Amino acid sequence: MADPGTPENPLRVAIIGAGPSGFYAADQILKDPETHAQVDLFDRLPTPYGLVRGGVAPDHPKIKSVTRVYERTAAKEGFRFFGNVEVGRDLGIEDFEHHYHAILYTFGAEADRELGIPGENLPGSFAATAFVGWYNAHPDYADRDFNLDKVKRAVVVGNGNVAMDVSRMLALDDAELRRTDIADHAIDVLDASGIEEVVVLGRRGPAQAAFTNPEIKEIGELEEADVIVDPTDVQLDPESQAWIESEAADKTARVNVEILQDYANRTPEGKPKQIHLRFLASPIEIRGGDRVESIIIGRNELVMEEGSLKARDTGEREELECELILRSVGYTGVPVPGVPFDLKRGTILNDQGRVLEAPGEGHRTGHYTAGWIKRGPSGVIGTNKKDAKETVDRLLADVADGLLLEPADPGPAAIENLLAERKVNFVSFSGWQKIDHAEVTKGKPHERPRVKFVKIDEMLEVASRPHPEEATDGS
Ligand SMILES: Cc1cc2nc3c(=O)[nH]c(=O)nc-3n(C[C@H](O)[C@H](O)[C@H](O)COP(=O)(O)OP(=O)(O)OC[C@H]3O[C@@H](n4cnc5c(N)ncnc54)[C@H](O)[C@@H]3O)c2cc1C
Ligand SMILES: NC(=O)c1ccc[n+]([C@@H]2O[C@H](COP(=O)([O-])OP(=O)(O)OC[C@H]3O[C@@H](n4cnc5c(N)ncnc54)[C@H](OP(=O)(O)O)[C@@H]3O)[C@@H](O)[C@H]2O)c1
Repeated sequence: MADPGTPENPLRVAIIGAGPSGFYAADQILKDPETHAQVDLFDRLPTPYGLVRGGVAPDHPKIKSVTRVYERTAAKEGFRFFGNVEVGRDLGIEDFEHHYHAILYTFGAEADRELGIPGENLPGSFAATAFVGWYNAHPDYADRDFNLDKVKRAVVVGNGNVAMDVSRMLALDDAELRRTDIADHAIDVLDASGIEEVVVLGRRGPAQAAFTNPEIKEIGELEEADVIVDPTDVQLDPESQAWIESEAADKTARVNVEILQDYANRTPEGKPKQIHLRFLASPIEIRGGDRVESIIIGRNELVMEEGSLKARDTGEREELECELILRSVGYTGVPVPGVPFDLKRGTILNDQGRVLEAPGEGHRTGHYTAGWIKRGPSGVIGTNKKDAKETVDRLLADVADGLLLEPADPGPAAIENLLAERKVNFVSFSGWQKIDHAEVTKGKPHERPRVKFVKIDEMLEVASRPHPEEATDGS
């Protein structure tokens, strides 16, 4: 058989994970003028779009409109979506090797990084991953019990954009929440919460914060919450001050510091809630009996180590009573059996997207990776486009050089037959469109963008219905 990439012998690529990086990679493969390709995009959920659906905050609907770009990719000839297919459970890597010339892993970084401190797993202390999944109706987290009615003070650990998202969600007013696509189960819980104070702990200083300007600005514009910053916390140490004034400082850090210094000069307006932004403060221990009662905070100083300012414990301690702790210190990847993995970094072993057999070894022919599982959990949605391009450029170069897998059965029907044989109830893109349509329809009477399904069974039932236009019962 001739090399793949022709109409007679199309290049067959399996992409695993239908988040932004999966869609960008699919698009770049399908638009290559030299290659006739067919892309099958798999996701363990019946719904596509990864963290755009399950991570981006409900009060940021504009950001979610990026899915229109992905819909255009899905409409391209040669594209198929296989939702509700978990790789590692329903299909193994050997199955893909049997049916595709190339496999591209884009399954994201779905787990939370741990703090490694005593009391971390007491009831009332949660990873932001779980809280975010819960308010965004991710089926994995729908049953979590976030009982907030007895919570007066919540502590958020971390200084990234996810920490900003979860702090804002705890402080948003009920009317605003009810206009969003937040999970129904979260609306009443957040509305009934007794939260008066959210304390955000950054282990380094304002100049080292990981959040970006629009996100920190939003914290200061909330209807229901005053933002409180202690003026002494935003007085920079000499090294941070020199850096922020230098050419080397990035604009985001400079503006972050300006915004925080402005907050420190504000007089609280007496709003019902307060968000306290604290710096040089690390969690040391979480205390409580059968649930969280307080957190021990250690005071840090900044020291220069290997060219960057790191937090060092001064030994000074403070105990702060609180009833809820959200640990927002970053995500990490989960290995899939058979895929070479760097456990320390939480990413697939790779060189510019080519999967490596082992550290320092060569490319595992036909295997590629992109997105968070390739580079780690950093960057905004658009970052994944450039990242996917780096990988797809290499994949297409390998096509030209004939360095691909030689699948025994590359016919497009083979994978559908295999899934049917294994009784995997997969969801096609048109199945997802029915779920989408049903969610949007449910949202309309309430002027909400959509009301999300949270149960996989409900999604599968909707996906298997006749298309709305074909329905005879008017449903
Ligand atoms: C809480 C949060 C909020 C964010 N908000 C914003 C924002 O407002 N703006 C912005 O620009 N960026 C935002 N980001 C960053 C952005 O979401 C990421 O850059 C982007 O989603 C990463 O894309 P990805 O495709 O690599 O991974 P993901 O989006 O995580 O997609 C991975 C996909 O793989 C699937 N998968 C996982 N395991 C398997 C398996 N074994 N088999 C099959 N499928 C599998 C998952 O179901 C998922 O659909 C946010 C991130 C988080 C965590
Ligand atoms: N609106 C948006 O655009 C948006 C929204 C959400 C997420 N995102 C993106 O998604 C990515 C992930 O966001 P993220 O907030 O999860 O991660 P992040 O940006 O990497 O931030 C993680 C934060 O946790 C802190 N941290 C790590 N370990 C800690 C420890 N042991 N103790 C205390 N603090 C600790 C880090 O501090 P150090 O800096 O000191 O390590 C940092 O402040 C980012 O690129 C983000 O921009 C974007």
